[in-house]
Amino acid sequence: MPLVWRDALSTGYRQIDSDHRHLFDLINIVEVALTSEHALSKLLNAIDDLAAYTRQHFTFEERLMLDAKYANFARHKEAHLTLIEQLKQVAKPIQELAHGEAHTTLAVPEEARDAMVGLLRHWLVDHIIKEDMQLKSVL
Ligand SMILES: [Fe+2]
Ligand SMILES: [Fe+2]
Repeated sequence: MPLVWRDALSTGYRQIDSDHRHLFDLINIVEVALTSEHALSKLLNAIDDLAAYTRQHFTFEERLMLDAKYANFARHKEAHLTLIEQLKQVAKPIQELAHGEAHTTLAVPEEARDAMVGLLRHWLVDHIIKEDMQLKSVL
């Protein structure tokens, strides 16, 4: 079941919203790669793409917050670090599966898959609702 964008998640800041939509797409690509019998390399690439774009987006948001002298900058940045750490943790067992054989088709153990899917269901959405929406009045 893919994540679907909804207008209620809009911060009204064009670049942030388009980044979030793109992150939804990248999350959905990871989920598809997780549930189908693709080469493990495809899944690993999808996770890398998500992690890279996430870092890029967080850096962008943090720069905006600094420029705006946003009062809750430290808390928001801390939340970003936690999100990156959480993604790293669920990605780890999957990355360890590769063992230099990333091109073989290798079923991801249910536990690792459930952890990744479970996190990505709410990972970004909760952050948008809890932290990013507060930027609406500031930027
Ligand atoms: Fe964001
Ligand atoms: Fe954020």
